[in-house]
Amino acid sequence: MAFLKVAVLEHLAQGAMIGVEVGENRIAICNVGGQLHAIDGSCPHRNGPLAEGALHGSMVVCPWHAWEFDCTTGQNDRNPDIRQRQYAVKAEAGVILLDADSRQD
Ligand code: FES
Repeated sequence: MAFLKVAVLEHLAQGAMIGVEVGENRIAICNVGGQLHAIDGSCPHRNGPLAEGALHGSMVVCPWHAWEFDCTTGQNDRNPDIRQRQYAVKAEAGVILLDADSRQD
């Protein structure tokens, strides 16, 4: 596990989402009820930037064609065969730390 500092927590209020890039990975980090979750930030439809979309509860809405994914599981809301990869993410001392090697398919 190699956690990297990717953002400061004060930039990610409850109910908000930010996008970060770690290497070639585009990642969306969501604050759902004070819990942080991170999923692959590239939409599997046409590669839309998920973190630039909306966060409704735990649901990330792609800004391009409105596909939706649960940020807590990566699961698409309509197709059970589509699920975004998840990453280990945590907050410590006001800093958001993400392990880009931890992604789970
Ligand atoms: S690119 Fe995300 S819904 Fe089309």
